[in-house]
Amino acid sequence: MEFRVKRAPRIDAEISVPGDKSMSHRAVIIAALSNGVCVLRGFLPSEDCMRTVQALRSMGIKIEQPEAEMLVVDGKKRLLTPPSGEIHCGNSATTMRLLAGLLAGQPFDSRLVGETTLSRRPMERVVTPLRQMGANIVAEGPNDSPPIRITGSKLHGIEYNSPVASAQVKSAILLAGLYAKGKTTVIEPSPSRNHTELMLNYFLVRTTKEENGGISIFADQVPESRDFTVPGDLSSAAFWLVAAAAQPGGHLLVRDVGLNDTRTTLLGVLIRMGAQVREAVEDVDQIEPRGIIEITGAPLKGTVIQGREIPQLIDELPILAIAGALASGTTTIRHAQELRLKETDRIAAIAHNLRSMGAQVIELNDGLEIYGRGSLRGARVPSFGDHRIAMAFAVAGLFADGETVVQDAQCVHESYPEFARALDDMMNPKRVRITTPVISLNPARNGDD
Ligand code: S3P
Repeated sequence: MEFRVKRAPRIDAEISVPGDKSMSHRAVIIAALSNGVCVLRGFLPSEDCMRTVQALRSMGIKIEQPEAEMLVVDGKKRLLTPPSGEIHCGNSATTMRLLAGLLAGQPFDSRLVGETTLSRRPMERVVTPLRQMGANIVAEGPNDSPPIRITGSKLHGIEYNSPVASAQVKSAILLAGLYAKGKTTVIEPSPSRNHTELMLNYFLVRTTKEENGGISIFADQVPESRDFTVPGDLSSAAFWLVAAAAQPGGHLLVRDVGLNDTRTTLLGVLIRMGAQVREAVEDVDQIEPRGIIEITGAPLKGTVIQGREIPQLIDELPILAIAGALASGTTTIRHAQELRLKETDRIAAIAHNLRSMGAQVIELNDGLEIYGRGSLRGARVPSFGDHRIAMAFAVAGLFADGETVVQDAQCVHESYPEFARALDDMMNPKRVRITTPVISLNPARNGDD
């Protein structure tokens, strides 16, 4: 599959986006450990999240899917049965790393395997702390890459100073901590997204924040079964937010999206670049805040993105690089070496594709320097098998002269199965108005321009 993209007319739309990927993984895992039936709505039925669902099913958890975005999970009070075979994590690092933590303390053996892009990714970051907790765990591939083999053992709590700000590492340790003796604490160099902590708390599992910034969990707690509705994924909305931000006069309202403040750093960056952004929390009943984001585009200007911002917008950096290429002046991204360890080396991929589209870019060890010119030219660009590269460059195509073709775009199914349709809606807004009315917030804007 490839995307063929042409310049978009002015965006003036109201949209919603599919469920949050991080929360979907966590909700189904914690529901599976709970003491009863949990109904999960707004679940993201993407390839990555369905890998987690299949894995839990293979360990004796009954999970029904009466609708695409609804799961009925029959929690078994933390009891899992030995998996029927190897656990296939597809290209989902979240599945592999979180399950490594969950499986480390089980009384049975397991093996986690992955497909091509996952098989190159580093697993030492979860293997090291889990071993310190007493796990018998090996990353069998070159340089501590997958598969991961676990021989069931008894764990004990540790205090772990993680060298990397990674929510997947933190989550693996906290899930292992549920099955470890005593107290387990994770300290991060700077805070990563906190969905595991919040989801555990929502299911009435206590975690505590330490004075040193660490997060702790005590073993033996059974999550209390509850229903949960997953809000829209801000990282999916980011593609359209940047598209609207980079169009002077562009206007977009995103409804029912997650507004957890460890995820909304993108909005601050877009404000710095000149866009007008309004964010309104409408609901915090499920601990995770959700609400609306409204954005009005402007001629963007370059900015510097670095330091503590990086872990909190790590998935938005590819699309922010496109914003940088469309802005005036220089956009600098630093301290983002983690980007080289994603589904592909995202620093190299962004630099390669932006250059193909006529932008001037310098690749740094830990980031990029992008000299914005306000325009791009259409090109054929590879996705490198990376969903966020595919989506970012499809959006770049909306701003390019001539046609842009994004090759091997099927990887978008890992996080945003509906992306192709949403892209088509942005390119052909008139048709959207017939099938799905686009509601303009400002009646003065209603003309078809
Ligand atoms: C995720 C954490 C991030 C992010 C990924 C999802 C999660 O990865 O890039 O898409 O759900 O925990 P790291 O933990 O490697 O930073």
